[in-house]
Amino acid sequence: MSVDPWFQSLFAERIGGANYGKSDAIYKFEKIKRAKRQALAEHPERKLLDFGIGENDDMADESVRASLKAEADKVENRGYADNGIQNYKDAAAEFMKRQFGVTLDPVTEICHCIGSKPAYAMLPACFINPGDVTLMTVPGYPVAGTWTKYLGGDVHRLPLLKENGFFPDLAGIPADVKKRAKLLVINYPNSPTGAVATKDFYKRVIDFARTNEIVVVQDAAHICLSYQGEPLSFLQIDGAKDVGVEVHSMSKGFNMIGWRLGFVAGHPKIVQAYADVKDNSDSGQFMAIQHAAAAALRNPAIPVAVKAKYERRLKKLVTALKAVGFQCEVPGGTYFLYTSSPKAAGDRKFANAEEASQYLIHEQSVCCVPWDDAGSFLRFSVTYIAKDEAEEDALMAETMNRLKGMKLTF
Ligand SMILES: Cc1ncc(COP(=O)(O)O)c(C=O)c1O
Repeated sequence: MSVDPWFQSLFAERIGGANYGKSDAIYKFEKIKRAKRQALAEHPERKLLDFGIGENDDMADESVRASLKAEADKVENRGYADNGIQNYKDAAAEFMKRQFGVTLDPVTEICHCIGSKPAYAMLPACFINPGDVTLMTVPGYPVAGTWTKYLGGDVHRLPLLKENGFFPDLAGIPADVKKRAKLLVINYPNSPTGAVATKDFYKRVIDFARTNEIVVVQDAAHICLSYQGEPLSFLQIDGAKDVGVEVHSMSKGFNMIGWRLGFVAGHPKIVQAYADVKDNSDSGQFMAIQHAAAAALRNPAIPVAVKAKYERRLKKLVTALKAVGFQCEVPGGTYFLYTSSPKAAGDRKFANAEEASQYLIHEQSVCCVPWDDAGSFLRFSVTYIAKDEAEEDALMAETMNRLKGMKLTF
């Protein structure tokens, strides 16, 4: 056993205090990693079919990489970018106009973020005092909730249930919670459920926000991956800009996941508060990356191609999984297929999705991610590595073959 360092008792309570680093709880993604390692060790002959990765598999478009190379050589791009260069903000405003018909002032209503993840740490810092509440949908991207708790606030969980179309039940939030709530964090297209928002849902969100004086943060990370008609921005709906912001990301729709860039857009006073907190947290993304991302935002062909690829792969996956008993359909958006977990494989019964996913990895080296927060679901990502359609088809045939032998029941 290792000896505690002299400062062990100094760790802040928010990360565990004096017990920091001592918990032996194993989290979901670590369990998956361990099971994958074990499956590879026990069956080196069996290729791992990995549907667990939640990251784009392609590099950014060649034109975007060429722009970065050129911009990196310019002396004027060498320094601190602070709260961002105007060219990127202008390109973001043009993108919002072209794609959604949304008009934004690129000076006051848009500010970049170093990927959208840090924006979910900073937005609670703009609003949450100890005792305040953030309303968070679950399952979901947890960063805003984690930071709410770091700041002494509380998280009220809004389960996304299949029977409600994966929309939160806003009417069911207790009055005392609504009174303490300052932020509502939503995410459409939703990860992991794949649900897309409707205009009617957004109208209800705006009405809820106004009535209860709650600021809305809409996470649009997956917005370019929308498969049911045109993608819908929260800011398209009348009144949205009065109640909140939408956070966009270059990661998913533009294959720029490792480049770390996004933007916060909406009410100028919220954007300003975010920019103030940001200014005290980072010094902005490398200007060359911002220029390259501006080029990406000005090229409508990029998100169209990314979307077409993942939609094609989702269709193939749905066909394969349906053939072995899953009841699923192509989701409204994202590159995830979120589908009810099997209850058993032959005589082996599963208490939850986590047990099912561990079994699939151990028995057939098929990896996916379990979600047990609101029902038992498995999330299959179509971001697997396959160099062409023939490889995709071969992978689907192999997936079907392995799962067929397991006699899954639902
Ligand atoms: C729903 C959702 N929001 C936000 C993010 C953060 O994306 P990024 O920080 O790359 O912009 C992710 C990434 O996985 C996500 O799935």
